Amino acid sequence: MTTPKKLFIKTYGCQMNVYDSERMAEELGTQGYVATGRAEDADMILLNTCHIRERAAEKVYSELGRMKPLKDLNPNLKIGVAGCVAQAEGEEIIRRQPAVDLVVGPQSYHRLAEMEARTRTGQTALDTDFPEEDKFEHLKARPKAKRAPAAFLTVQEGCDKFCAFCVVPYTRGSEVSRPAERVLQETQDLVERGVREVTLLGQNVNAYHGGMTLAELIRALDKIDGLERIRYTTSHPNDMDDDLIAAHADTPKLMPYLHLPVQSGSDRILKRMNRSHTAESYLKLIERIRKVRPDIMMSGDFIVGFPEETEEDFQATLDLVEAVNYSYAYSFKYSTRPGTPAAERPQIDPAEADERLQRLQALITRQQRAIQESMVGRELSVLVEKAGRKSGQMLGKSEYLHAVHIDGSGHAIGDIARVRIVAAMTNSLTAVPL
Ligand code: SAH
Ligand code: SF4
Ligand code: F3S
Repeated sequence: MTTPKKLFIKTYGCQMNVYDSERMAEELGTQGYVATGRAEDADMILLNTCHIRERAAEKVYSELGRMKPLKDLNPNLKIGVAGCVAQAEGEEIIRRQPAVDLVVGPQSYHRLAEMEARTRTGQTALDTDFPEEDKFEHLKARPKAKRAPAAFLTVQEGCDKFCAFCVVPYTRGSEVSRPAERVLQETQDLVERGVREVTLLGQNVNAYHGGMTLAELIRALDKIDGLERIRYTTSHPNDMDDDLIAAHADTPKLMPYLHLPVQSGSDRILKRMNRSHTAESYLKLIERIRKVRPDIMMSGDFIVGFPEETEEDFQATLDLVEAVNYSYAYSFKYSTRPGTPAAERPQIDPAEADERLQRLQALITRQQRAIQESMVGRELSVLVEKAGRKSGQMLGKSEYLHAVHIDGSGHAIGDIARVRIVAAMTNSLTAVPL
């Protein structure tokens, strides 16, 4: 028997890349690859990359520099770049780092096995097409092995919104939804492999229209026996329709947590960002959601230091954060992305942007900590995902997506444990079983 080839995948960026990495590993599995956690042992290293901010893209080039000497140790080693940097930079990657053998974009990785074979004949392989065909229809069937209880599942991809700062519409292409029957079938298969929670993924997941709306899809998923929890991310405020809001009240398996990025609290900046909503319309929307689901926890994304952002604009962002009270929020310093409209606008002083980012993050942390602390004494349900570091301790997620450590639980992975929260840290909660 020949020893199997080993595959090391490193994933950057968003949850969709996590899902794509799984599918790529499965695809290369059909070529005899097994996963390894050590780049030093690999016959193929694949970096699944993110292009969203400058630093994310630069990290990929430094990692490639670190990986290159491994080729001296293993002459059979092939190095590949997948994901959004691959899409955006294409051939330039091989020019900048000639150790790279393969470059594949997010819409063409169903061709990965054939591309890998080409690299074995000494050629480089490059594919950054946006093909006509649906890659998911061309990927091999997913293996039947048992899996972790929480899974990501891409249902929608691409973006037609063209926010002025963002590369996603260029790297992922235009909005496409997977057919609902395929999503239902894949979820059924995941449940048979031990999955109890699915997070439906899309760059604008609430713009989903695969023969059903997202609300209809969630209601159909709600009927699958053995599936206990449904989440979805990321949503655009303009695509939160009435039915999806209603689903938060009437669909038992839909979890009370919503990631709804707004980016800024200043209408002047939102307009320049091409966001097509206002701070007020966003706040009204959250009011409507909280009316039907008062306990829902909100999270969001913010960009500070967008071109021409003034102190007054920034203050409006702080005001909006105060008004919403987020259980979690991601905030980023604006990063100029070549080819996007905002890159042409007058940029603000980076030191100023740093200082604003710190102020925003301090406020967000304060809110997050207060919400965490308010959970102490509460009874929650936790999907147990893995063993903790302390003996007898298990780790999992609450319905509100808090990370929860359960002490001395006696619960197994995949259980939904009823617990009482006994302590709160900034990023996690400690609980005892009920
Ligand atoms: N489709 C999602 C997520 C897009 S990327 C959405 O529309 O919300 C995730 C986050 O990265 C964005 O919400 C935004 O806050 C941030 N981001 C995108 N481009 C950026 C840039 N050029 N500089 C800084 N942050 C950026
Ligand atoms: Fe980027 Fe805006 Fe599309 Fe989100 S909605 S992916 S921020 S262009
Ligand atoms: Fe990054 Fe591409 Fe996701 S740019 S955030 S990996 S869609």
